[in-house]
Amino acid sequence: MKAPAGKSGNPLMRAVGALAVLAALAALFFLIEPGAAYNWIKALHVIAVISWMAGMLYLPRLFVYHAEAEPGSEKSETFKVMERRLLRAIINPAMIVTWAAGLWLAWHGFAFLGGWLHTKLVLVLILSGVHGYLSASVRLFAEDRNQKPARHWRIVNEVPTLLMIAIVILVIVKPF
Ligand code: HEM
Repeated sequence: MKAPAGKSGNPLMRAVGALAVLAALAALFFLIEPGAAYNWIKALHVIAVISWMAGMLYLPRLFVYHAEAEPGSEKSETFKVMERRLLRAIINPAMIVTWAAGLWLAWHGFAFLGGWLHTKLVLVLILSGVHGYLSASVRLFAEDRNQKPARHWRIVNEVPTLLMIAIVILVIVKPF
């Protein structure tokens, strides 16, 4: 039988599972010979970043339309499926790979030193907090408990964009 939207799995267990996968990936990367692997891991990092950001920009856009749909309508149920699949199949795995590869690069390339890197880490932590907020919102929408108007989601939509611009400038220009 198909699980109802948002009801499959305990969120705490899913978070613990995600952290375990992150730790396993990070451990795997740390066993790799750094010289040979740096550019490959950086390529993997950028691919994961693109996937994470694509999802983080699309999900609040779906919420804008979902907030305007009548709860229980066919449109609303379709949005629930789209949101759940986007979160589980793209956004969550992409965030884990971004973090694992990013931490590896930060250690092997920069020994975790540099003002740009520390600032980038703070902004990525904020971005991960936005990820958590969007993930919790998928659950609220799935249970028809969203109270926020479409305007709220339009504003939330801008947050990952602004963070991404600052993060990319920091890592490429390295201004300090
Ligand atoms: C999750 C934590 C993250 C860490 C620890 C991290 C760390 C790093 C490090 C150390 C590099 C290598 C820089 C170099 O070789 O010059 C890098 C590359 C890069 N990162 Fe991240 N990153 C993270 C997340 C992100 C996010 C969220 C974005 C974008 C929104 C991003 C965008 C990039 C880009 C575009 C590059 C390639 C830069 C280049 O080749 O010059 N990273 N990252």
